[in-house]
Amino acid sequence: MDMDGAAVLDFYYRPSNKNDFANSQTGFSLNDPRDNGGFGLYWPGKEAMLAELARVPAGRLERLGRPPLTSGAAPHRIIEGDNLAVLHHLQPELRGQVKMIYIDPPYNTGRGFLYPDNYRHSVAAYLALAGDTGENDDSGRLHARWLNMMYPRLLLARELLRDDGVLFVSIDDHEVHTLRMILDEIFGPDNFVATFPWQSRTSRQNDTDLSVQHEYVLAYARVRRRQQRRLTASNQDVWDRLPGFAVRPGPLIDERYSNPDDDPRGPWKLDPFDAPNRRPGLTYAITNPNTGETFWPPEGRCWRTGEDRFKELNGQGRILFGRRGRGRPQLKVFLREKAPFGEVPVTWLDGHRYGTARSGTQELQALFGGQAPFSYPKPTRLIRFLLEIATGPRDLVLDFFAGSGTTGQAVLELNRDQRSRRRFVLVQGSEPTGDARWPTIAELTRERVRRVLERDALVNQGFRALRWVPRGR
Ligand SMILES: C[S@@+](CC[C@H](N)C(=O)[O-])C[C@H]1O[C@@H](n2cnc3c(N)ncnc32)[C@H](O)[C@@H]1O
Repeated sequence: MDMDGAAVLDFYYRPSNKNDFANSQTGFSLNDPRDNGGFGLYWPGKEAMLAELARVPAGRLERLGRPPLTSGAAPHRIIEGDNLAVLHHLQPELRGQVKMIYIDPPYNTGRGFLYPDNYRHSVAAYLALAGDTGENDDSGRLHARWLNMMYPRLLLARELLRDDGVLFVSIDDHEVHTLRMILDEIFGPDNFVATFPWQSRTSRQNDTDLSVQHEYVLAYARVRRRQQRRLTASNQDVWDRLPGFAVRPGPLIDERYSNPDDDPRGPWKLDPFDAPNRRPGLTYAITNPNTGETFWPPEGRCWRTGEDRFKELNGQGRILFGRRGRGRPQLKVFLREKAPFGEVPVTWLDGHRYGTARSGTQELQALFGGQAPFSYPKPTRLIRFLLEIATGPRDLVLDFFAGSGTTGQAVLELNRDQRSRRRFVLVQGSEPTGDARWPTIAELTRERVRRVLERDALVNQGFRALRWVPRGR
């Protein structure tokens, strides 16, 4: 069925925010920075890009004819083609379905890898676009084309997210500032979740004056949850269904728990028995039975329970006065009671724990007999962390700048380890690699995923391979 562009957008775009406005030319709606006291990011070519939004590329997705890619079930998809066309094409089917999008777009470094990473205008082309007023600051020259490339893709990506879905974008200092601005515009600043600084290298680069060791992952929710973000005993039955996106707790770090007294209740740790704020009902004297010393809550604080509950806990052998019995009251907290609520994840992504650019390359080498057919793939541990904090066991994950397919590998490994059924859709263009074994990057994406499937004998984790074919080809 062919619809004209505006009709298609009308069909799949429903303003979800009272600040949304309808672009008069396209009927498309987005957060208008002009409603925000004129604060926003403008660049030459933005208007024309917005006017283009409604043009849905004509074409179709065709199944690639190299059966059988995998035997057994094929819950995943790898789509070859320009991601703008594919994102348009996926709207009717996947609108509001995706729990997590991770993308690692070209950073606009001005260099070239297997794929182009220079979105800068030449001075002449930029002046032609921006107009030569004699006053033009040409810094826009560096960013305009990249922004025009990213903006429509991010807008379409947001449409695919569930209300409790989230977008993660890897980026570095070349475009982090402009990306924040357009993501604020597209998602609304209230839906900003976090900037995760990721330690992309742990070694020092000595051929320059400052060794940059980090990149970022920006996170924006389709709708950021306002209340009850933390999973607790009191909301555990409904937490998953509460509106908006909240970060799932990570697995509990159990090295902090031990069982030196062979407590039959299992490993434990000691937590302070005091809590924030002054509360008269939670303020009373506690006497250390070993020393006779009396304790009150520290200045400005209270105890964490009332006196009756304290006595109950004491009777259960859960109050200790320090490891040697001579200090302040502390609470024995058991691993098994804390485990369901996990650990609150932190934004600082340490390279030793979440992998570095180098470890990403080593993972690829491990799959390709010591070779790395793609530069700077992300480490799977980084993507796995994002999957763990943002998705449940049956959720749909999308990566439309798939590169070597790290996201696919991370999903497969998490499914393997958790016996979960997350599904992925990867989209990757067909830039040539110059290597006959995988002549395009998309072929390399498929090959990597195939190798992971084979390595782990994942018979029911296959993928369908599709290609975007523009009309007339
Ligand atoms: C930085 S790489 C992603 C690397 C990936 N995260 C990994 O770990 O291997 C960006 C990828 O996006 C692809 N790409 C760039 N523009 C695209 C487009 N318009 N459509 C589809 N893919 C595109 C490039 O070919 C490149 O493979």
